[in-house]
Formats: sequence, structure tokens, C-alpha cells
Amino acid sequence: MAILVTGGAGYIGSHTLIELYKAGLESVVYDNLSNASKESLKRVAQIIGQEITFVEGDIRNKEQLRELFSNYSIDGVIHFAGLKAVAESVQKPLEYYDNNVVGTLRLLEVMGEFDCKSIIFSSSATVYGEPNKMPIREEFPTGNGITNPYGRSKYMIEEILKDLSKSDSSWKIVILRYFNPIGAHESGLIGEDPNGIPNNLMPYISQVAIGKLNELQVFGDDYPTVDGTGVRDYIHVVDLANAHVKALEYLQKQTVMPEPLIVNVGRGQGYSVLELIRAFEKVSGVKVPYRIVGRREGDVAISYADATLAKKKLDWVARYDIEKMCADSWNWQKKNPNGYETS
Ligand code: NAD
Ligand code: WQD
Repeated sequence: MAILVTGGAGYIGSHTLIELYKAGLESVVYDNLSNASKESLKRVAQIIGQEITFVEGDIRNKEQLRELFSNYSIDGVIHFAGLKAVAESVQKPLEYYDNNVVGTLRLLEVMGEFDCKSIIFSSSATVYGEPNKMPIREEFPTGNGITNPYGRSKYMIEEILKDLSKSDSSWKIVILRYFNPIGAHESGLIGEDPNGIPNNLMPYISQVAIGKLNELQVFGDDYPTVDGTGVRDYIHVVDLANAHVKALEYLQKQTVMPEPLIVNVGRGQGYSVLELIRAFEKVSGVKVPYRIVGRREGDVAISYADATLAKKKLDWVARYDIEKMCADSWNWQKKNPNGYETS
């Protein structure tokens, strides 16, 4: 029996393959390589000393999915596949809804056909919109104040999964709402490899540090936060990957689930942009030039998780602190200045 990992060649997926291997679980990766290359899978194989089973395909293609489920005995699915660039989603909403929402529907339909009814879904803290209280708890309202189609696609999928669960309690579903994953595997062999100019803070910082970009623009210093810059709950990608193994273990213990288990995956601690820059400078010994500019449209001031449910339900806690996250991001960046293209 194997775990199907959709989007397994991507940033979080590739790290999760290692955690699955460490837990003694077989995986099959299904990815259309729209935002990844096979190189990440080669590197994972190098780390674990074992080839990764890979099938190139798209989650929107039911025939390909049927073939996949016919060829492999799939016990459960970790569903990472999706498009994730917030600004691009504003430009191309139909592409995002098609890829993320329609793709997930097709996947769920085929899973149902093959009576494979366990799934862990990659959701995002973005579904909370702009909560008026911190830390963010899972029962906070979702769907209001989401500023982009990417975030709405995650919200829509969550609602679909809730309805599916209500219709048939033999579906076992865990929805993980990720906060801000950064860092890389400590080997420096795999990491985040954004196309073009990064949208997210950590890859931007590390590309400034390596000299590919001149300076970081800090989006706003007039938020009601410790130093005026935005505060986020950064989480090491290896910790996040490990949460999926814990979620699988949870699913294996359930017989019926009347509703999806929804869990925040964050550390429960917020860091400002300037605090993250300082932590990065400290561990790397490299200065990160930055300039304060105006706020970025759609950004919230503060977002950090209440992570107690993850501990209670999944027995999961984050192990790595902000300095380890920065050190591992920097290690990956230094060893792979051009990401996976270097090899
Ligand atoms: P990523 O882009 O590195 O990985 C996604 C993978 O899915 C890529 O390898 C891509 O090629 C593949 N893919 C995309 N569309 C596909 C399709 N139609 N069929 C098959 N494969 C497809 O992104 P990531 O950072 O690893 O994120 C993984 C998941 O977690 C995504 O669903 C993302 O929305 C979600 N998420 C990410 C973050 C984050 O900050 N990275 C935060 C919250 C949620
Ligand atoms: C973090 C902080 C910025 C870049 C996004 C998505 C979310 C999830 C994770 C996928 C903010 C500031 C950033 C820069 C900056 N993605 N910043 N200069 O916005 O919390 O979340 O990625 O699911 O859905 O919205 O992450 O890394 O973009 O920003 O000052 O060049 O850094 O304003 O305060 P964000 P981020």
C-alpha cells in the first residue's frame, strides 16, 4: 500500500516524501511539473537512498488518474497539487479555480471510484481573511475578507470537503491550514525554488543575501505591530512535512469521521519582517539591505496560529526555531544559487 502525494515534486511535497520514508511509508508522486522539476525527486532519492515512484500527470485529468489508481494500490492521498501565487491568481482567476478547485473535484471523484477515501488537504491560513483576534483558532470564521482567488480556491475546497464528509462518513479527511513555511532540508539538497522574482519574504531575503537581488522592499512599517512591519507565523518546512505523517497516523486510527479534522500548522509565535531579517543576518553573517516601501495590497498586519489543537489531536509540535529556519534557507540558497537549475 502506498500514499499518493499529488504535487510531490514541489517545495512542501518533496520534504514530505522524506518524512514519509522515515515513517516507513511508501509514496507515489503525481505531479504535472508545472511548478517543479524532476530534479527535486532525484535529490530526495539521494537523501533517502531510494528511488521515488513518479507519475507525470495532471489532477484535472480523470483518465490519467484512473490509470494511476489502477496501477498502484493507494491507501491514502496527501494533496499538495495546486497553483499558489497570490498575485498571479488575481490576474488569472479562472486558471486558479480550474487547477485548484476543479482539479480537487476530479481527484476526489476518482478516489471515490476506487474506494480510496482518506485525504489530507493543503489549506492555508489565508482562509481566515483578517481575523480581529490573535492567535488564530480553527473555529474562527473563514471565507470572509479573503483578498484573492488563490485564497478563495482554498476556502472553496474546504467547503467541498466538508460537504463530502457530511454526505458519506466513510470519507476520512484532514485539512491542514499552513501558516508560513520557510527553511529547507538540512542537507541543502532540496528547498524552495521560486520561478523568477520571489513573491514571498524568505526566498527574497536569501536571494538578496546571495547577491541575485539588490535589496529587499519591506512592505509597510506602519502596521500596529512591534516595529510596524507585518507579523507572521513562520514554520520550518520539515516540521510542516512531519505534520502530514502525524495526520496520516491520525487518519489510520479513525473508522468513521462525521466531519473533516481541521488543524492549524504553525508554531504559535509571530515574527515581524524586521525580526526575520535580523535572525537571517545573525545566522548567515550576511547583511540584507532593505528599504521600507508602501504596504502590499491584500496583506494583513498580523497572522499567527493557536497551535494547541495540532498537539492535542495529532500529537504534533514544531521542533525548529526561527534561527534554524534561516540557517537552512541560507544553506539551500548558498548551495543552489540558481535553485534546481544548477545541476
Ligand atoms: P509548489 O508549487 O512548490 O508545489 C505544488 C506542486 O503541485 C508543484 O510541484 C506543481 O508542479 C504541482 N501541480 C500544480 N498543479 C498541478 C496539477 N494540476 N496537477 C498535478 N500537479 C500540479 O507549492 P508548495 O509551496 O509546495 O505548496 C504545496 C501546497 O500547499 C499547495 O496546494 C499550496 O497552495 C499549499 N500551501 C502552500 C503554502 C506556502 O507558503 N508554500 C502555504 C499554504 C498552503
Ligand atoms: C510575509 C511578510 C509581507 C515580501 C503568502 C500567501 C499565503 C501563503 C504564504 C500559500 C508580509 C512581507 C514579503 C517582500 C515584504 N501562501 N514581505 N517584502 O503574505 O503572509 O502569505 O504566502 O498558500 O496564502 O498569502 O507571506 O512571505 O509573502 O509575506 O515585506 O518582498 O513579509 O508584507 O508581512 P504572506 P509572504
